[in-house]
Amino acid sequence: MCGIVGYVGEQHPKEFLIDGLKKLEYRGYDSSGIAIKNSDNIQIIKSTGKISDLEDKVNNENLINSKLGIAHTRWATHGEANETNAHPHKVGRTTLVHNGIIENATDLKNKLVNEGVVFRSETDTEVACAVINNYYNGDPIKAITEAIKTLKGSYAFGILFEDQDKLYAVRKDSPLIVGIGEGENYIASDIAAIIKYTDKYMLLEDDEVVELTKDEVKVYKDGVKIDKEVQTSTMTIEDANKGNYKHFMLKEIMEEPIVLQRTLNKYINDMDKMVDISSYEEIHIVACGSALYAGMIGKCLLEEKANIKCMTECASEYRYKKIIYDRKTLVILVSQSGETADTIAAMRKAHEEGIDTLAIVNVKTSTIAREAKQTLFIEAGPEIAVATTKAYLLQVAMFSLIALKAAHSKGLEDNYNEILKEAKSLPDYLRKVLNDKDTFAGVGKEIKDARDAFYIGRGVDYAMCEEGSLKLKEVSYTHSDAYQAGELKHGTISLIEEGVPVFAIITNDKIKDKTESNVIEVESRQARIYTITNDPSIMNHHFKYVVEKLSDYFQPILIVPPLQLIGYYTALERGLDIDKPRNLAKSVTVE
Ligand code: F6R
Repeated sequence: MCGIVGYVGEQHPKEFLIDGLKKLEYRGYDSSGIAIKNSDNIQIIKSTGKISDLEDKVNNENLINSKLGIAHTRWATHGEANETNAHPHKVGRTTLVHNGIIENATDLKNKLVNEGVVFRSETDTEVACAVINNYYNGDPIKAITEAIKTLKGSYAFGILFEDQDKLYAVRKDSPLIVGIGEGENYIASDIAAIIKYTDKYMLLEDDEVVELTKDEVKVYKDGVKIDKEVQTSTMTIEDANKGNYKHFMLKEIMEEPIVLQRTLNKYINDMDKMVDISSYEEIHIVACGSALYAGMIGKCLLEEKANIKCMTECASEYRYKKIIYDRKTLVILVSQSGETADTIAAMRKAHEEGIDTLAIVNVKTSTIAREAKQTLFIEAGPEIAVATTKAYLLQVAMFSLIALKAAHSKGLEDNYNEILKEAKSLPDYLRKVLNDKDTFAGVGKEIKDARDAFYIGRGVDYAMCEEGSLKLKEVSYTHSDAYQAGELKHGTISLIEEGVPVFAIITNDKIKDKTESNVIEVESRQARIYTITNDPSIMNHHFKYVVEKLSDYFQPILIVPPLQLIGYYTALERGLDIDKPRNLAKSVTVE
């Protein structure tokens, strides 16, 4: 959600800035822009639409000589996606790009308008720019340090001052890293934008102000210079590229066996490394979107296997709701990016109440990874497609291990060792499913013209339905809904008509007969049934795919990839922009 890059060095910044924006495209955006400067001029070029549109515009302009610039992809929050609202914004001697939301922008704007400042755009960013400009009288560090005291909300800023040949940046609750090159330095929203140029980077804490020249990076806190550690990224250039795949989404699905192995290996040979949550009386699993659906699988496992009371709640509700913490409670936050604004707020709420937190996170440098009391890292590597696939799968796997450990600690799991053994074979079982990807491509072909689709299941199968349904709708724009199979006849069954695809997930032995009856109900209303199951004896209505039967802990891991592939291939059939579905952002850093 919004991306920032900045460059100072010996080259013209155009190539780095456009290339960096392309690498950040996955975060989601609807307009973009760059600002380049030299000691006499500043040149700003903006465009709506794709980065390629901006690139065309940039290529057709007479560019000034420059060795310094900033650029931005905007995901509209304040004001529509047009060129006026696109960043960079310039007020007086200050030009900036911004990721985040300035919550007191309206108040600040009214004050500034009364003081005679004229605003061109509807954005909170232009207000922030004016605030910094107001404080600026030749000392950038002082101006930024003073200005951020008056700004409420979240921000990562890349800033240029008309009379300085240096690049400035600051962040709070929005991601921004500093890349350290040779004879050039960079800022970027994430490492993917700079990995082609350097693997050395610095993390900025909230409200640390950074000043970059081509040879030097200086960081200040409250106006005082501080030392910062330089870190080395493990990301590779291949991670940031699609390789032989047409889309990152498919590449990332096909990577699932490898990343699963990498994640499981950390624990299955030494479960002492796994967090033991068996002493908690209540667990709250809080997350957004797919991460929440991974949590719903976690809840089923923790309740069924480890006998721990558990609830799931989406972070945007949890953060504002009255929560009664009357037992020994653990809040588990699940987040691929570790930067989701609502999940961060939910975590901080738990901390304010003195509640323990455990985060399941992919991005090690993220806010949630840094602030949670305990963290379990999934080893997904960079996930570039907006729709999560491999990270979701690993979140589920992490819950399988947490539940297994808790059940074992409580003496509730007689087959502990066999289940750990099963975990070792899991990547191979998964490979077998992914080898059948053409089968799911066939499903995509069949349902490509469907207007609606439904996913039904019970218990943990229902939790998987939610994810299957989300995957289909977000990438293929097919309307779809997930229902507990028994709920359908309480209203929704009126939508079932001839040919409507209904995906039934049936893995739970205890209640499979019940789901089968629901399947027959919809089939008798001419729905087209696609069954995904671990039981070969389940009836085949129109399509049936059977996966290996595993323990309850790990069964979901084989069911989810077919659902992801069905979403992918349906979108492919429809010729959509699969890695960057409309209106979506990879990392939702605003409320
Ligand atoms: C869907 C998807 C989103 C994310 C959600 C949470 O494919 O990717 O629903 O799961 O926005 O994001 P993180 O996990 O980064 O907190």
